[in-house]
Amino acid sequence: MGVNANTNAANRKVYVKVPASTANLGPGFDTLGMALDLYEWIEMGFAEQTKIHLFGDQVEGIATDKTNLIYKVAQLVFEKAGVQHPELEIAMYSDIPLTRGLGSSAAAIVGGLAAANALIGSPLSDDTLFQLATELEDHPDNVGASLFGGLVVAFWDGQRAEYIRVEPDERLEVLVAIPHFQLATEKARHVLPREQSLTNAVFNVGHSSVLVAALCTGRLDMIPRAMKDALHQPYRAALVPGLAKILAEATDHGALGVALSGAGPTMLALVDRSSSRKAELEQFLLDTLATEQIEATLLWLNPDRGGVQVLTHFDAGCTLIENIKGDVRG
Ligand code: HSE
Repeated sequence: MGVNANTNAANRKVYVKVPASTANLGPGFDTLGMALDLYEWIEMGFAEQTKIHLFGDQVEGIATDKTNLIYKVAQLVFEKAGVQHPELEIAMYSDIPLTRGLGSSAAAIVGGLAAANALIGSPLSDDTLFQLATELEDHPDNVGASLFGGLVVAFWDGQRAEYIRVEPDERLEVLVAIPHFQLATEKARHVLPREQSLTNAVFNVGHSSVLVAALCTGRLDMIPRAMKDALHQPYRAALVPGLAKILAEATDHGALGVALSGAGPTMLALVDRSSSRKAELEQFLLDTLATEQIEATLLWLNPDRGGVQVLTHFDAGCTLIENIKGDVRG
């Protein structure tokens, strides 16, 4: 992550750009994450009285008082750093859809932590931010990807989170199908059995391990066989009409591999960017979801490689929207 360490001016503002993420990639439940080039931007500065301004189509229902997640995580950074800055002016624009399995809350947490840390001169290390973010989000896969970019392989033992970042293969492109309904992570975790068989555990350890090895060594041919899961997707399929068919058949229509993105409902296909079957895959996804009367938006994305960035080229005399014009999707 990039850092801007100008500390003193009371009227100073910082800007961060933080990527969306997908978690699990099928078998890597709570373990494998990948950052995606869909972003949220945050402007943060000190203020006499807290004000929170939200922009874009993806901010409905987000709090604009001191219960706002970005405001709250900023206060955690200040507390950890031993400083007091209770009043903040925050502006946020997001292209990341809420509650769809694309890591919108992880992005808000990571963006808020990175902005607050930069605002006070970056006293906290990347590792401290990762530990804080994991404690807040509960799973290291989404927050690790938003923080560090690329592919993140991680675990959390309840005390410390550990990770290794892997550079995504240049050939990988991502097609997401984002249904027009929300699915809370809590609900999608509630349907999972508390206990699993040894057979399922061995299945996932094997598939997740081979998937990571394939992604690290450029063995794209192995992805269709490795990107399979027995721990969560079979139980979540009832919550996402069309998912079971898409998981079973997308590789017959040009996908290298397919998975529920995080806790869903978005579905994600990994695709070789030189594939000649992209239109076929799009049509298969749309037709399958239409049969289930599910409206969805398809988006072609790329892995994000940089993770959260503190931006130094923005003009403090302009609004956030003026600064990000030309860079946003919405
Ligand atoms: N790994 C999580 C899950 C994603 O599948 O429930 C949400 O952080």
